[in-house]
Formats: sequence, structure tokens, C-alpha cells
Amino acid sequence: MNSKQEGGLHPIETASRDELTALQLQRLKWSVKHAYDNVARYREKFDEAGVHPADIQDLSDLAKFPFTTKQDLRENYPFAMFAVPEEDVVRVHVSSGTTGKPTVVGYSKNDIDMWSDVMARSIYASGGRPGDKVHISYGYGLFTGGLGAHYGAERLGCMVIPMSGGQTERQIQLIADFRPDVIMVTPTYCLNIIDGLERQGMAGDGCSLRIGLFGAEPWGTEMRREIEERMCIDAMDLYGLSEIIGPGVASECIETKDGPTVWEDHFYPEIINPDTGEMLKDGEHGELVFTSLTKEAFPVIRYRTCDLSRLLPGTARTMRRFDKITGRTDDMMIIRGVNIFPSQIEELILKQEDLAPHYQLELSRSGNLDALAVNVEIKPGVSTQASDRVAAELQHNIKAFIGVSTKINILGEGEIPRSQGKAQRVVDNRPKG
Ligand code: DLL
Repeated sequence: MNSKQEGGLHPIETASRDELTALQLQRLKWSVKHAYDNVARYREKFDEAGVHPADIQDLSDLAKFPFTTKQDLRENYPFAMFAVPEEDVVRVHVSSGTTGKPTVVGYSKNDIDMWSDVMARSIYASGGRPGDKVHISYGYGLFTGGLGAHYGAERLGCMVIPMSGGQTERQIQLIADFRPDVIMVTPTYCLNIIDGLERQGMAGDGCSLRIGLFGAEPWGTEMRREIEERMCIDAMDLYGLSEIIGPGVASECIETKDGPTVWEDHFYPEIINPDTGEMLKDGEHGELVFTSLTKEAFPVIRYRTCDLSRLLPGTARTMRRFDKITGRTDDMMIIRGVNIFPSQIEELILKQEDLAPHYQLELSRSGNLDALAVNVEIKPGVSTQASDRVAAELQHNIKAFIGVSTKINILGEGEIPRSQGKAQRVVDNRPKG
């Protein structure tokens, strides 16, 4: 059990902003120098941009440094971004990516220790406590979700049920038999588990679960409401990405439930204009960028996440928060000149009582124009005659609130493929190239 977490918060979580800034600056100087001294790619990029680690005199000096992108990691596949000898790397994780080579991230023993700490902190912030039973349905393996959650829950002093993703019937049986307090799972896979629990009359009040930590994919406030109502739990937002550490970069606090708090003593956040790269002020919408402050094996300097949000002042903690992620720069669809994110359509689907939260968006091209079809399931028990009305209503709402014409296909229960991890929301049938 971790003594630091056991008695409540880590002191830095409630330190003054000045104390936090001083720690960040000291750590930033170390991290930028560590990357420059030990990773050829960083040295090349900094030299090319005419900047040197000694230029960091203040946190704002970071803006002079070049960004790091997925492309940098791909071009240095597998291990050339590591800043310590391979024999000091105790673990790697791999993110699949949809195109090109996968990206590999590495961890030293101290990195795993820090990751366990920030994950324990995340579970605690979400309302988990030592002694709780934690059912983990994030996939174990190359994905960071399962093992990241696992080490954090153990660090906090919980009983871990390392279920991983899939085998939904078995998940449900173990939830019934072991009576866990906390579940950690992607929001879309949770919907599958809820369907199963409901079929067995075990959702809601009959279920032992008190809290869920949901992440790894975008989920809006309507999805939160749906999960909370059907499962009778607090649904908390857990954020992270492999390149920065995995889950546990930021987590919501149960006291305020107002967007994930960034664990800023380890991960320094910025928000930038995704088109120009210009640094934006807190409160402005843009792309999240993170710099690792303490990582040894795989330091990342100004990594562009592609995730869209805005930075907000701290509430439950000194550290800053961000708004729920609205989408990724690479998820944006442009339909007849209108920019749309799947999350906007999701909010409208979930607001309609007769629709189930299972949907997929299908892009196609007719002539020079892109077209969008929304395939969505109707709730079991709703009459098929209602389909036309439900479709017309959704079509109208999408046109009215987002401004695009869509084709709505209402499907029956189980017709949308179910996710066991991250859901595939968009099927792109447009000709390539
Ligand atoms: O998904 C790490 C993770 C595991 C986070 C479990 C939370 C829980 P990657 O596979 O590298 O890592 O994918 C990272 O997933 O850039 C976001 O686009 C998305 N994402 C992660 N958490 C959230 C969240 C893990 N809470 C990518 N809300 C990120 C919205 C999220 N999107």
C-alpha cells in the first residue's frame, strides 16, 4: 500500500500555484536537457530550431521549442527515441495506429513507479479508496489501459480483478460474484456490460459498483448521464495516451466532476492552435500538447496529442483541468463544408429516448461531395413503426444543431458491431487518395 496516497492527497495536489510552478520549472529544465543529451532526434530538432536546453529560464520559454509528433516516433521506430540504454528499459507498450508503423513507448523502473503513483492518484481522485475491489476491463497487453490501471489500483491498496476486455458473459458473472466497487473500462465497452447486466436484472441498485473510471475514447456528457443512470454509479473521466505515459495523465475529481485534472507535476500541458501551432491562453479552444517532466526512458517534449479541448483553472486541486475532449483533429469530418465531430452526433443520438447508444457513422462520396449516413440502433421494445418518426427526428436535429444533411438508417438490436475496447465510430468508404 502506498503511504503517500493512503492518508489522502499527495502534498503537491494542494500546494500553492507558486510551489507547483517552481517544481515544474526545475523539472522542465531537467527533462529538456535529458531529451537533448540522450535522443538524437531531439538534438537535431532543437539545433535546427536554434534552441538549447539552457534557454529554459521560465516555463513560457518552452514555446520556443519545436513540437514532437507521431511522425517523429514512427521515423525512429522502434527504440531510437529512448533516452536510456535498452537494458534500463523494463517495459514497452505499443500503440497500433491506423496507418504506417506502430509507435513504441518505453519505461524505466522509475517511470513505472511514477505511472503507478499517478494512476493511484487518479483512482483516489475519482473516489476509489484502499480496500476497494477494482474490476479492470481495459485490455491487458501492448495497450497501456489494462496494465496502467492495474499497477495504479495495486499501488492504492485495492484488490484488483484483472479481467481485461472481452468475454462479456464472464465479466458479468464476476461482477455479480465478486461485488467490485470500481470498474475501469472504455465507455463503449461499458455499454455492452450494462446491456448484459440489465438482461440478468443486475444493473442499477442491484449492482455493487460505486464508481467507474472511463477513458481511452471520447465520451460526452450525454454518455455520462446514460452510464450513470443505468448503472447507478459516478462515471469519472480518465485521460491519457501511450506517448505521455498511458492512462493517468489526467483524471476527474469526485468533489467537482468538472473535467480531468492534469497531474501537472509530471505532465506539463499547453493548448495550441492546431492550424498555426501558436500557443493559446487558458480557456481558449485548441489542441492539447504535453511535455513530460520526470520520464526517464521516453521523454516527450511538446507532444501534439491531436485531442481538442481547452485548459481551465484548477478547482478541486491546484492543478489545471481541461474540458471533456470534443474530438481529435484527425477525427474531424468535413461534410459539404461543415466541420463535424462524431461526439456532436453522439450527443443528439443519446438525447433521443427511443435510440440505443450504439451507432456508427458511414462516410461515402457521390460525385465530388461527401455524404454522411448515421447507422443507429433502436432500443429493444420500441415498435418498428416508430422507426420512421425516430429517424426523421434525428435527421432534423442534426440539420438544425450541426447544419448537415444526413441519411439515417435505423437498425435493430445487435446490428452495430460491439466494441470490446475503443469503438470504431467512423467507417470511411470514400475512395482513397
Ligand atoms: O487510450 C490510454 C488510456 C487507457 C486512457 C485507458 C484512459 C483509459 P492510446 O491508446 O495511446 O492510450 O490512445 C490515446 O485516446 O489521444 C485520446 O484521443 C483518446 N482518449 C484517451 N482518454 C480519453 C478520454 C489510451 N478520457 C488517445 N476522453 C488520446 C477522450 C480519450 N479521449
